[in-house]
Amino acid sequence: MIRINENYTKLKASYLFADIARRVTAYTSAHPDRPVIRLGIGDVTEPLPAACVAALHAATDEMGQRATFKGYGPEQGYAFLRELVSQHDYAARGCKVEPDEIFISDGSKCDCGNIQEIFATDTRLAIPDPVYPVYVDTNVMAGRTGPNVDGRYQGILYLDSTASNGYVPAVPSAPADLIYLCFPNNPTGAVATRAQLEAWVAYARRNKAVILFDSAYEAYIRDPDIPHSIYEIEGARDVAIEFRSFSKTAGFTGTRCAYTVVPKTLMASDAAGQPVALHALWNRRQTTKFNGVSYPVQRAAAAVYTDAGQHQTRALTDFYLANAQLIRSAMGALGLKCAGGDNAPYIWIDVGRDSWEFFDLLLDKAQVVCTPGAGFGKCGEGHVRISAFNSRENVQRALERIAAALR
Ligand code: MLT
Repeated sequence: MIRINENYTKLKASYLFADIARRVTAYTSAHPDRPVIRLGIGDVTEPLPAACVAALHAATDEMGQRATFKGYGPEQGYAFLRELVSQHDYAARGCKVEPDEIFISDGSKCDCGNIQEIFATDTRLAIPDPVYPVYVDTNVMAGRTGPNVDGRYQGILYLDSTASNGYVPAVPSAPADLIYLCFPNNPTGAVATRAQLEAWVAYARRNKAVILFDSAYEAYIRDPDIPHSIYEIEGARDVAIEFRSFSKTAGFTGTRCAYTVVPKTLMASDAAGQPVALHALWNRRQTTKFNGVSYPVQRAAAAVYTDAGQHQTRALTDFYLANAQLIRSAMGALGLKCAGGDNAPYIWIDVGRDSWEFFDLLLDKAQVVCTPGAGFGKCGEGHVRISAFNSRENVQRALERIAAALR
């Protein structure tokens, strides 16, 4: 009989957010009279910006006319969007990223998960803990780890992110080849200073390593001193790949558009020690396995860069950040220590007890869904993550219910 990829058997039975969704569905089926408020998965609730909707409509009309109809687009994305990204997200911040170094995709989750394919199986990994589970799970699937022993996969260099380091891990003394960093951080909401990112770039250069920099939440940065891109750090073009998304910036979680930057100067070596451009490998991978994002969706993403789009997306992120402030102050009033929420849509709360037990308590007593910290790694135990992505009414109602449940 055909055999399975045994690496899958090392994984937990289900993906964190699938597991939570299953538990919530079981609860709502058992208690249909108790409406649940979801502050678990970071999924946006507010409608698309009007500029994006208008662009979607116009592009859909183009698809309905013979003269303007489009079939397959370029796998890497249309030039009109790549040029806007290069100009607005990079040149405007003093970073050099050429349009053809930008690969438009249907999501950062897919890109963060797929990118590991272009690296050797014996690549040494450094991954923060707690962390967005996609980074770990996709490497487990690829056979880059041993079994999970006591909550940690053998073979990964875990970078503890705790209150004592402000949830920003320092560079380790041991070498690694592939380093995952996410700032503003999911799940802790922490941001990395320029000096901290400089230390990581220097570490990567010293070790001839590659940083995978997930910057999906950069639109939430309000502190003017915090870098939005790893390429704001000198020398990063030679050691870093960056992931960005329209999901949390412009409400595209259901529309699907993101991009990945692979600088042409970024090299890794083959088995003979010869340098190989990662840009060429990622291009090979994408042209083989991906057929691009739909034309109307790329037009909608391009509308983010119009004056109206910029204004409307800023209003969206301001709205969720105001939710985050409400959550932070309500948790503080309950005597709970929090991180995040200032430059990120997540609030990381020290609940001082088992995180799944706290999840169950909130679901049962308050009908509020949070994300248990243990789901993000061993260092997440004792914490939960509350997402600021919901309507103001739901956030306020959830906070009242949480206060009543914990009193
Ligand atoms: C999260 O809740 O961590 C994110 O929404 C997950 C994702 O973006 O895939």
